Amino acid sequence: MPDTGTFFLRTASERDLPALRTLLVETWHDTYDAIYGQARVNEITDVWHSLAALGARLKQPHSEFVLADNGRRIGGMAFAAAENKGQEVKLRQLYVHPECQGIGIGKALFAEIAQCFPEARFITLEVDEANSAARAFYARLGFEQTGRSEDCGEAGFDIPALVYRRML
Ligand SMILES: CC(C)(COP(=O)(O)OP(=O)(O)OC[C@H]1O[C@@H](n2cnc3c(N)ncnc32)[C@H](O)[C@@H]1OP(=O)(O)O)[C@@H](O)C(=O)NCCC(=O)NCCS
Repeated sequence: MPDTGTFFLRTASERDLPALRTLLVETWHDTYDAIYGQARVNEITDVWHSLAALGARLKQPHSEFVLADNGRRIGGMAFAAAENKGQEVKLRQLYVHPECQGIGIGKALFAEIAQCFPEARFITLEVDEANSAARAFYARLGFEQTGRSEDCGEAGFDIPALVYRRML
């Protein structure tokens, strides 16, 4: 797996779940409090980033759950799953802790995910229109906007998002 400074990438496991939850909650507040408000971010992270929800992802078939570790902390994570008979990969989560952003971890996590699905033709993701930093990052990786989604993430949360896509 690629090396990013002192961080190395590896597959997530059950024992990583509490640290992954902390990473996601802190990164979500840093990224989305200004967009959705702190209370709404708490509501979302309580459900989406519960230990049970993260544990279920570890067991999901045709998926990859990778993280960046430097031996002292987890700096970032990515989760993706194959759909449409393996033709399409959906990047469901890509989060780098605010203290670890801008040093290549996001790019390395994406490169790892991209090579985990050799039969897939393209990769898609959803990103909030207001998350301009992430949109710039994905554009840098070669993604293009192809549509819109009215219910990003999990059904029922009514979070609109842009759909981005890149050939693999
Ligand atoms: C968006 C995110 C995943 C990017 O990861 P990162 O580790 O900070 O980014 P990297 O250091 O790997 O940057 C990779 C490339 O993207 C560019 N890039 C990163 N952030 C950028 C920004 N805000 N604007 C422009 N370019 C950016 C870098 O300059 C770099 O370019 P290079 O390949 O020419 O050197 C990370 O910042 C993050 O988790 N943000 C908060 C959560 C979030 O929004 N996640 C995405 C949800 S859809």
